[in-house]
Amino acid sequence: NGTSKVNNKGHLEIGGLDTIELAEQFGTPLYVYDVSLIRERARGFKQTFDKLGVTAQVAYASKAFSTIAMVQLADEEGLSLDVVSGGELYTALAAEFPTDRIHFHGNNKSKEELEMALKHGVGCIVVDNFYELELLQSICEEMETNAKILLRVTPGVEAHTHEYITTGQADSKFGFDLQNGQAEKAMKAALQFSKIELLGLHCHIGSQIFETAGFLVAAQKIFEKLNEWKESYAFESKVLNLGGGFGIRYTNEDQPLPAGQYVEEIIEEVQRQADHFAMNMPEIWIEPGRSLVGDAGSTLYKIGSSKDVPSIRKYIAVDGGMSDNIRPALYQARYEAILANKALEKAEETVSVAGKCCESGDMLIWDIPLPKSDHNDLLAVFCTGAYGYAMANNYNRIPRPPVVFVENGEAKLVVRRETYEDLIRMDLSIKEKINN
Ligand code: LLP
Repeated sequence: NGTSKVNNKGHLEIGGLDTIELAEQFGTPLYVYDVSLIRERARGFKQTFDKLGVTAQVAYASKAFSTIAMVQLADEEGLSLDVVSGGELYTALAAEFPTDRIHFHGNNKSKEELEMALKHGVGCIVVDNFYELELLQSICEEMETNAKILLRVTPGVEAHTHEYITTGQADSKFGFDLQNGQAEKAMKAALQFSKIELLGLHCHIGSQIFETAGFLVAAQKIFEKLNEWKESYAFESKVLNLGGGFGIRYTNEDQPLPAGQYVEEIIEEVQRQADHFAMNMPEIWIEPGRSLVGDAGSTLYKIGSSKDVPSIRKYIAVDGGMSDNIRPALYQARYEAILANKALEKAEETVSVAGKCCESGDMLIWDIPLPKSDHNDLLAVFCTGAYGYAMANNYNRIPRPPVVFVENGEAKLVVRRETYEDLIRMDLSIKEKINN
């Protein structure tokens, strides 16, 4: 994908740079992001909306990978930004992201977080529940300010990869149930709160979705309600945010649609619904995370020890693991990998790639064919750009790897490697005196 290729030394190259040299320069493990691929993905979404002449916002779901540099890149590409915590908001502010293009999510935003958002003029707050709706109105009164909001609704559609399920009532911690009257009650309350401007509705039906049907059913269900509400309350949704969740290809088993196709089919359905109910076409907002950054990221590891379990399997261990990529352990997520320094060599053995954490479940890849590997070979695991660094942790007090952006033959360190000092920077000794 993107600018990845094999150079004449038989080495994997990304962004015009030899990954072996990147590993030497920055050490391993190392997250490498192909910046031009992120740009291509961002432009792809925007072009689809432009082509169909639909007013839109493409908000990057920064939970997938939130760092100052990534937020700056999202800004360069004219994206909006979805943040879900004070920390992601703080990152966006540090990156000087235009706050009117920030959308603030979360099912339990604190008073402090809401105040922070209002103080900085965040463009839209996606209100999740009644507690938040009332809290927001009272904070707005206190601060003598107004808030633009969307209401997050759960349409009773849940989508995963190939299937979606519809239920009368959604069993989810997120949002106002559309079917049982909660969403209607929230809409009425929001219309009455003087400090709150209700722009429209939001829903997010899942992640790593390969089919469009779930999105279309969600849109239909929302329009049925909007039609009822138009008649009873003269409420019109100026904005309809259909969330993120567009799938990507981690392995050959994954067959996502081209990103533009999700958007096209969604737009067509929304247009059809709007026409059917004689409503104005709303602005369409989406919130892709994984599909913007997932396949742009690769992780480089150095291979260390190996272990043969005769006639069962061979383990090869790398210098990272569930501390930099918890997805295999958490979701049985699957990845592809190659030996970056032997990229042209044929696969000769099937091995399983283990991490270095003290836990049997710390396996990155089971049973992958690779060329004969040796200590110090470089393993490149693909498609680690979303929810990799974002969910990295310090289990076993392993420092988090650095992040390098590569583009047009240049490498830029955008997150430095954690040091042992970083690991203990919050620790306090029991031998220190109070107030010390
Ligand atoms: N909008 C909302 C409200 C969301 O909850 C999410 C993801 C997104 C947008 C972005 O979804 P995406 O386009 O990235 O699929 N840690 C899991 C994924 C959790 C997704 C949570 N919400 C993983 O590693 O697969």
